[in-house]
Amino acid sequence: MKNENEIIDQIPRDILFQVLDNPYESMIIVNKEGRILFISKSYEDFISVSPEEAIGKHLTEVIPKGQLHTVVESGRAKIGATFTVEGQPRVIARIPLKMNGEVIGAYGKLMFWHTDKLGELYKKIKSLQGEIKLFKDTLNQIYKSNYGFENIIGNSPLIQHAKEIALQAALTDSPVLITGESGTGKEMYAHSIHRASKRRDNPFVSVNCSSIPKELVESELFGYEPGTFTGALKNGKIGKFELAETGTIFLDEIGDMPLNMQVKLMRVLQEKEIEKLGGKPKRIDFRLIAATNRNLEEMMEKKTFRHDLYYRLNVVNICLPPLRIMKEDLPVLVNHFIKEIRQVMPKDVRSISQESMGVLIGHSWPGNIRELRNLIEGAMIRCKDTQIEIDHLPPGLGNPSWVRLADTASGITLRGQMEKAEKAIIKETLKIAGQNRSKASKILGIHRTGLYQKMKKYGM
Ligand SMILES: Nc1ncnc2c1ncn2[C@@H]1O[C@H](COP(=O)(O)OP(=O)(O)OP(=O)(O)O)[C@@H](O)[C@H]1O
Ligand SMILES: [Mg+2]
Repeated sequence: MKNENEIIDQIPRDILFQVLDNPYESMIIVNKEGRILFISKSYEDFISVSPEEAIGKHLTEVIPKGQLHTVVESGRAKIGATFTVEGQPRVIARIPLKMNGEVIGAYGKLMFWHTDKLGELYKKIKSLQGEIKLFKDTLNQIYKSNYGFENIIGNSPLIQHAKEIALQAALTDSPVLITGESGTGKEMYAHSIHRASKRRDNPFVSVNCSSIPKELVESELFGYEPGTFTGALKNGKIGKFELAETGTIFLDEIGDMPLNMQVKLMRVLQEKEIEKLGGKPKRIDFRLIAATNRNLEEMMEKKTFRHDLYYRLNVVNICLPPLRIMKEDLPVLVNHFIKEIRQVMPKDVRSISQESMGVLIGHSWPGNIRELRNLIEGAMIRCKDTQIEIDHLPPGLGNPSWVRLADTASGITLRGQMEKAEKAIIKETLKIAGQNRSKASKILGIHRTGLYQKMKKYGM
């Protein structure tokens, strides 16, 4: 490698001089004592002596308000200060010159001939910033959360418990895994957590992993650079993670994520870094919420879901209860939906008969709260008056699920049926409470020892 002297020697002297003294920049060099070693011709117009005469004089004799010598004293560069020359503010850089670690002088340079130039630049940046803000706002309109906790209805301990955990999760940046059967409100919780978090003004980007063809998952999530493969979009593609920058990404139906993508997702969660197809790794600031109605534990046993990913996702687990075990919330939910649907339906349905409510309470609700909402909507369409009656409900709903004819026929007693139900409820509640027995007993509204006794009785 060549040393500095060799490099300098290769540059002709008059070229070096042109670099120092050109009409576009003004330069002054002072020595350790603050005496001028060099001053460019462009100073000619606004100093009292000629540049040649200025050499050897102290800076302040030639430019009374000059500050360059102070940089010699401090040894620290000062960039971007303004300095008024002939009533015109100029932007200046003052840089100490060192040899063997010791300051031996300084040079000053007017960076812009006029601050007008800076002003122009500033205006341009301002307008670009405005444009960026507009794009960001539009993006946030598209990628925003649609629900908040105020939309999640239910007073049962089960719902209160789930909401409480979700609210706590909203205060942190940890990954959240929401599990529960179809229609239990997983999506609503994901939206609400984002809306209650510090990221609420940033994008909420939702990805349904089950609806993307396997081979497209990677480009959907991470995007690709232009010309990465044939058939690619000309300008490349921005991935969902990048869209979620500073916000939240919601990976819905995570149980349907192909195994090879699970490996990649694991890496992204670990490194907080994504790699566009055909691009370089890039750090992304995001918060992850995942949801599934599939049994991930079972999937792990079958090796269709990765253990390491599960533990990464499952930092906070919100397990949503099925509607059949929170029937005390049914009346509030029904009335809430009647009110909600009335606002968009040109009908005046305002209530539901007690008899109909009884039938709803008897139903087993495999489609959970979504099924309930749809059913109320259908009943309101059929209803000609102001109250929903049995006739407006779908036929077949009238047979309460807990009176299974087959069961009765095979001689199972009422007590047997009740015990069966009790065992199922305890099992589900324990799951929701993360196997924490005192939490489960609180949710169930029974004493802890009562719960222990029942668990013992059922061999749990
Ligand atoms: N606690 C609740 N309060 C009010 N409405 C609810 C509640 N839970 C669910 N809903 C209603 O049920 C519908 C379905 O909820 P959501 O889409 O969140 O379910 P999900 O668990 O994501 O279901 P899936 O697994 O099928 O995707 C919502 O659009 C909403 O109308
Ligand atoms: Mg969903």
